[in-house]
Amino acid sequence: MEINKNQAAIKIQGVKKSFQVGNRNIPVLFGIDIEIQKGDFTMLVGPSGCGKSTLMHIIYGLEEPTEGKVIVNGNDIWSKTKDWRADFRNQKIGFIPQQPFWIKSLSVIENISIPAIISGKSFHSAISRAAKLIELVGMEKWADYRPFDLSGGQQQKIALARSLLLDPIFLIADEPTGNLDRKAGEDLLNLVYNINKQFKITILMVTHDIDQYKYASRIVKMLDGKIIADDINKHNLKNLEEIKNNSSTLS
Ligand SMILES: Nc1ncnc2c1ncn2[C@@H]1O[C@H](COP(=O)(O)OP(=O)(O)OP(=O)(O)O)[C@@H](O)[C@H]1O
Ligand SMILES: [Mg+2]
Repeated sequence: MEINKNQAAIKIQGVKKSFQVGNRNIPVLFGIDIEIQKGDFTMLVGPSGCGKSTLMHIIYGLEEPTEGKVIVNGNDIWSKTKDWRADFRNQKIGFIPQQPFWIKSLSVIENISIPAIISGKSFHSAISRAAKLIELVGMEKWADYRPFDLSGGQQQKIALARSLLLDPIFLIADEPTGNLDRKAGEDLLNLVYNINKQFKITILMVTHDIDQYKYASRIVKMLDGKIIADDINKHNLKNLEEIKNNSSTLS
């Protein structure tokens, strides 16, 4: 797999998508062009049905675009084989869904280890990496629980830890706080924000919650299958922190 440090993390060129429903062709994406740089924390926002999840699935290698290209670190992912994409998904992209999936019979820490075991790492090395990540998200006390015995917010923290297991190029999250209450949502976003800052990991996240915009460095707005605005977020926490730090050194 080609990895080039100077390339954009994700480059989408002229992506269109239509779904075939019976004998009708339903267009959903009408030509999406976007480049996401390494280290960006991008939020993808827009009304229900505008095509956010469809675009995320195309980037994740699950849903094939009708037209256009998706280039991830120099790899034109839709020109590769299905097996290549499956491998790529497991090894190079962290994914946090709205509702995490778990293997019921396994403990929290074993569930976190699964991507490493699938990719052929030893059980021991997978568990020791999972142990570090479970600490990073502050859930080490729950390592031996079954995931379904945890609250929704705790499960999302575990899903976040699992998404980081194999050092992904980027992390995508489709409304990861959609089923959480306000406090649990804030806790998760704080963790994601700190991981973005600390490890410079690129994040692309869908949200409906305007209060979460402060965590993003960039806000991309969609409407009816098109991008209608794409702005550097001047009001994100990083800028606010810098302003605060500068003013405290000045005073
Ligand atoms: N497999 C499919 N077959 C047919 N139509 C689909 C399919 N998947 C999505 N669509 C349609 O594509 C449009 C965009 O759906 P999508 O799920 O991408 O929207 P969204 O922006 O993620 O919405 P939400 O905020 O509600 O999650 C919708 O009209 C939806 O019905
Ligand atoms: Mg959606």
